Amino acid sequence: MNKLAHWTIDHIGIAVSSLDEAISFYEQKLGAALCLRETIEASGVELAFINTGDSRVELLAPTRSDAAIGKFLASHGPGLHHICYRVADIKVELARLAADGCTLIDSVPRPGAAHSQIAFISPKSFMGVLTELVEYPSKA
Ligand code: CO
Repeated sequence: MNKLAHWTIDHIGIAVSSLDEAISFYEQKLGAALCLRETIEASGVELAFINTGDSRVELLAPTRSDAAIGKFLASHGPGLHHICYRVADIKVELARLAADGCTLIDSVPRPGAAHSQIAFISPKSFMGVLTELVEYPSKA
């Protein structure tokens, strides 16, 4: 099997309207702790990650109504938003997917939380699931 094609589930993304309420809800229901909270102003989103052992739940709230997550909430309401896979080399994976004919929302990676690079793949090319790839900076 191609080593570069080995994807690991990094987190499940959930769209919420109030980040504070959602953090309290998940901390209480899962008995889990918040591990990171960060605003990505370029994407108009505020993120909170709840630690769930090997994986995490990412709560996403818009910082402005015209952000992609704001539009999602307006049309779908709060709920399941995306699944994110951790990959070793996001540019290699995006090139492979593009060559396979997948529709990429981000053909070039953009900044994500914790100095990561992220890119979204259209649900039209992924069996109806909005799919995110993440590459974390390699530890020296
Ligand atoms: Co995500």
